[in-house]
Amino acid sequence: MARPTFYITTPIYYPSDRLHIGHAYTTVAADAMARFKRMTGHDVWFLTGSDEHGQKIERAARARGLAPKAYVDEIVAGFKDLWARLDISYDDFIRTTEPRHTRVVAAIFTRLYEQGDIYKATYEGWYCTPCETFWAEARLVDGNCPDCGRPVELVREESYFFRLAKYADRLLEHIARHPEFIQPETRRNEVVSFVKMGLEDLCVSRTTFNWGIQVPFDPRHVVYVWIDALTNYISALGYGTPDDELFRKFWPADVHLVGKDIIRFHCIIWPILLMALGIELPRRVVGHGWLLLESGKMSKSKGNVVDPMVLMDRYGVDAIRYYLLRELPPGGDGYYSEDNLVARINTDLANDLGNLLSRLTAMAAKYQDGAIEPPAAYEDLDQDLVDLAVGTPGEMARLMDAFDLPGALAAVWRLVNRANKYIEETAPWALAREGRRDRLATVLYNLAEAYRFATVMLMPFMPGLAPRVWAQLGLADRPDLTAWDALQWGRLPAGVRIKRGAPLFPRIEAAK
Ligand code: MSP
Repeated sequence: MARPTFYITTPIYYPSDRLHIGHAYTTVAADAMARFKRMTGHDVWFLTGSDEHGQKIERAARARGLAPKAYVDEIVAGFKDLWARLDISYDDFIRTTEPRHTRVVAAIFTRLYEQGDIYKATYEGWYCTPCETFWAEARLVDGNCPDCGRPVELVREESYFFRLAKYADRLLEHIARHPEFIQPETRRNEVVSFVKMGLEDLCVSRTTFNWGIQVPFDPRHVVYVWIDALTNYISALGYGTPDDELFRKFWPADVHLVGKDIIRFHCIIWPILLMALGIELPRRVVGHGWLLLESGKMSKSKGNVVDPMVLMDRYGVDAIRYYLLRELPPGGDGYYSEDNLVARINTDLANDLGNLLSRLTAMAAKYQDGAIEPPAAYEDLDQDLVDLAVGTPGEMARLMDAFDLPGALAAVWRLVNRANKYIEETAPWALAREGRRDRLATVLYNLAEAYRFATVMLMPFMPGLAPRVWAQLGLADRPDLTAWDALQWGRLPAGVRIKRGAPLFPRIEAAK
C-alpha cells in the first residue's frame, strides 16, 4: 500500500541579513514535524528556501557594494550552513532566483492577466520597504507603517493589480467550511475579520526597482514580492511544467508553517491566488508566535539579535533544538533568555533525561555486570510505569497533529519523570543489598524499556540524541527496536549489554 504523503513547508527567508534564533525556530519546528511524519510511515516532502527579490535586498546589496545576485549567493550559503548545523532534514531548498521558479511565476502572472484577474491601473499609496507592503493612508499610524512603525514612502506609479476583492466571499466560505485551514483559532478569527473589513485589489508589480522577476508582457515591471514568494510552494514541485510529478504527488500541502506576521499573506493572498488558478488550497496554515527578547522582537536595527551558531557552539545542537521547541507555546509568543536556556538544559536535559540514563547504566554495571536481564512477575508499581509508557506514543502523536510541540515534549517528560520516580519507589540499591535478584532484574528491565520508549519519541526533536543513547543501551545495531513501530512494551530483548558512556548533557555551570 502506498504510504500517505505529507508535504510541509517553512517560509522562504529573506537573505537581507543573517538568520537569528527566531528564524531558526520556524525551521526547527517544521523539521521536527517532518521527522515525526517520516518515522510514523509518511512519504514526506519538506521544503525550505530563500526569498531573494525585492527592493530591500537590492538596497542591502548596494550598501555592501555588491550586485544583488552576488550578495544573496553569499547569504544563502550561510542559510544552508545554519540548516546543516541544526540538523534540518529538508528535501529541497528553493531559491526564488532559480529559473525553475522564475519561469513559473512569469507564466502564472501572464495567465492571470489573460483571464482578467490581473489588470493595469495607476497606483498611489504608501509603501513600507522593510515590510514590502502598501498601506492606505487611513491605516498609517502617526504617518508610519502600522506593522513595524517605520517611515513609509509615497509612491505613485503605474502598476498591475490582482483582483483580490472578487474572491473575498469564496475565501470566507472556504474558511468556514474548513475550520482546520487556519490554526490556531485566534489567527483564523483575525484573518476572517480582516477579510470582512473589505479587501482591496492588490498591487502586484513595481517599476521603481529592477531586482525581481520581469512581467513577461511588460518588461518595465517586476512582479511584486509576495506573488513571487508564495509561488515557491508550487514551483518547487514543478507545477505548470512537464516535470510536475512532485506536484501531482504532494500537492496540496499538508502544512505551511509560518510566523504570525505573515499569516495574512498565507491565508488571504495565497489561497486567492490558488483559487484564481484553479489549484486546490493547502490543508493547513499554522501560525506560530514570536520568540521575543525582553527588549522586544529581535531585529538587526535594535541590535538585539541572537545568533544560533554561537549558541550551538556553546551548548550543542540538540540542546538548542530542544529549548526552542519546548519554550514557544503553540500559537503564542515566548521569551528568550540565556538564563532560561541554561535552566532548561540543566533541569530537563542534564537532570531529568541525562541522569536517568546514567543511573540506569550505573546500576546495570554494578548489580548485573552490565546486562539487562529478563523481567520476572510485575507488581502494580511496574504496571503503572508500563501503562504510562504504552499510552505516551498515542498521546504524543495527537499533540503533534495539533502542532503542539511543547505539549508533545511534556508528554515524553512525564514518562521520563515517572521513570525517575520509579527508581525512588523501587530502590534498586536496597533490592541488591537484600539479594532480591529477580525483582532487581525486573526494575532495571522496565527502566531500560521506558528509556527506549522515551528516546524513540525524542528522535524528531533531538536527532543527535538517539545514537548516543543506543550506544549505551546496546541497541546501536538494532533499527528494528529503535523505530516508531517498535514501541511495544517488552520488545527489548533480555541480554542486551549496557555500556556506560559520558553524560548525555553535562550540567552548565553558572560561570559560563
Ligand atoms: N520572505 C518572507 C516569507 C515568504 S514565505 C512565502 C519573510 N521572510 S523573513 O525572513 O522575514 O521571515 C521568515 C519567518 O521567520 C517568518 O515566519 C517569521 O515569522 C519568522 N521569524 C522572524 N523573526 C522571528 C522571531 N523573533 N520569532 C519567531 N519567528 C520569527 O517573512
